[in-house]
Amino acid sequence: MCGIVGYIGSNNVKEVLLDGLKELEYRGYDSAGISVLQDESFSVYKAVGKLKNLQHKAEDFKPEGFAVGIGHTRWATHGKPTELNAHPHLGEYSYVVHNGIIENYQELKKELTAKGVKFLSQTDTEVIVHLFEQNLNSIEDAFEAFKLTLSQLQGAYAILLVTKSEPDTIFFAKEGSPMIIGTDALEQKFFASSDTPLIGHAKDVIYLHDGEFGFVTPDAIALFDSCHEAVRPQFSALPESKLSAQKEGFRFFMEKEIYEQTEVIADTMLGRIQDNAIAFDELDPSLFEGINEVKFCACGTSYHSALASTYLFERHAKIRTSVEIASEFRYKEPLMTTDTLFVVISQSGETADTLETLKMAKEAGLKTLVICNVDNSSMVRLADATILTRAGIEKGVASTKAFATQVTIFWMLSLYLAGERKTLSTENITKQIASLREIPASVAVNDDLHERLKRLSKRYLHGHGFFFIGRDVFYPLALEGALKLKEISYLHAEGYPSGEMKHGPIALADPELFTIALMPQHMLYDKTKSNVEELSARDSTICAISNLTFDKADDFIPIADRDHYMLEFFEMMVVLQLLSMEIAIRLGNDVDMPRNLAKSVTVE
Ligand code: F6R
Repeated sequence: MCGIVGYIGSNNVKEVLLDGLKELEYRGYDSAGISVLQDESFSVYKAVGKLKNLQHKAEDFKPEGFAVGIGHTRWATHGKPTELNAHPHLGEYSYVVHNGIIENYQELKKELTAKGVKFLSQTDTEVIVHLFEQNLNSIEDAFEAFKLTLSQLQGAYAILLVTKSEPDTIFFAKEGSPMIIGTDALEQKFFASSDTPLIGHAKDVIYLHDGEFGFVTPDAIALFDSCHEAVRPQFSALPESKLSAQKEGFRFFMEKEIYEQTEVIADTMLGRIQDNAIAFDELDPSLFEGINEVKFCACGTSYHSALASTYLFERHAKIRTSVEIASEFRYKEPLMTTDTLFVVISQSGETADTLETLKMAKEAGLKTLVICNVDNSSMVRLADATILTRAGIEKGVASTKAFATQVTIFWMLSLYLAGERKTLSTENITKQIASLREIPASVAVNDDLHERLKRLSKRYLHGHGFFFIGRDVFYPLALEGALKLKEISYLHAEGYPSGEMKHGPIALADPELFTIALMPQHMLYDKTKSNVEELSARDSTICAISNLTFDKADDFIPIADRDHYMLEFFEMMVVLQLLSMEIAIRLGNDVDMPRNLAKSVTVE
């Protein structure tokens, strides 16, 4: 995910900015840049890849004395990771850095282009700086122009803007993306999108709230709320440890990533949801021409999200859909026909088995699509088309937010195809889009629930194994719940379709077998219920997750009433992730780096 730094003061501005960006490296990025305004002229450096490339480019830049500067690490979302797309972005006499997504950038870009503005990048960010300069041309007051610009933006952002028209000022705004201002006794001001770059520099910090904006100069901080009322800055103390600051107060990266799901799912949906249709600008509709079947291929957690999508695709888009485990597919001498769209799913874009199947599909002349979290990865470079999930870097080895964003994309893509193929009515699509918009709320972690799962976890540290069971899309979710638990707790866990129990697995049922039962109200509730009752009758210990109370459960985890089964899916997903994590923590395991596992499996 992108990172922002800013500085105003008389220390070595280049070092402050580059050191700050270094502290943000852990968030992941694929290009970086800085822009420094000193003595009425800008010095700008950008580089693709690691920060050392940027350091190398800026080697001969040796600023002295007062300066204002902004810097950015970019994780590509709109446009490839190139120098032109790297921030800061230039207007004619101003530079901007931005985290988040400007949802209406295409309309704004069209309007600005019609007025003769030339765009250099493919990013949504560039509209901000051009819009600001257009506004400044007519208003002639930089802060008023900045305010007007903010009122024209839709979406999520943290913004820093510097301009020659106010050379000792940084303009800032926060809406949906984090931004912090740091101060010290020396009239220096710092900005950063998280605590770590500020540790060791700032004495006090202001955590900006959504809707706040303003400007800083060497001797003032002007802060306003969303109603444009002046706000008195509230200063707080900074955390002292950098590692704990990176984890933003969470015990593990996995925990932080579970809590981040609300934000990254919202990012994944931004710009892709309209009132009654789904839009994927990155897809050429011809990709689906002549296609009679969709085949998904992936490994591990990504395979589980693909399996869930097969239900959604057949149900919504009425297209034959199948899914394959990549390590199996590559050796089964599969039949591949050119009326099949071949879709690979991967967080990293580098998993060796999945990459190989993509190569096979290309060689067989199939059209290919990759759903991926890392732009410019091997799979993205190879596939005909790409949809990026916008989960940001995932540090925990056990995948959480990547899975959540993949499933979000699949739900959207099934509706997009349903619209293209006219297999669902507009009313149905509109209704489901309204439900889609509720995903971020459905994955928000509720403190009471987390506390309850913490307490419950102590009852699940022994036994001879876990069954996770569910039907329909809740079957892949059961597989994913079992995978999460075994990866980090090292306890034996299996996922099953609920209806399969009586075909063998139920032989294991006894009080030491824990069944985690996914019982959504809106998907085959009665069928699942009778399967769980069969297990209960054989004395298996039942932990049921549902919004409907179930009196045969030994433990019951309530979820909220939702009107779509996919929202039940997302809420249950969070329950399973947290429960696994709490069990693993009680067992004393390193949740972020489980034994024998690697984050990116680039070997067969
Ligand atoms: C499980 C997990 C793995 C990955 C698998 C595929 O938590 O992370 O099962 O899902 O190794 O990786 P990607 O998605 O990078 O292809």
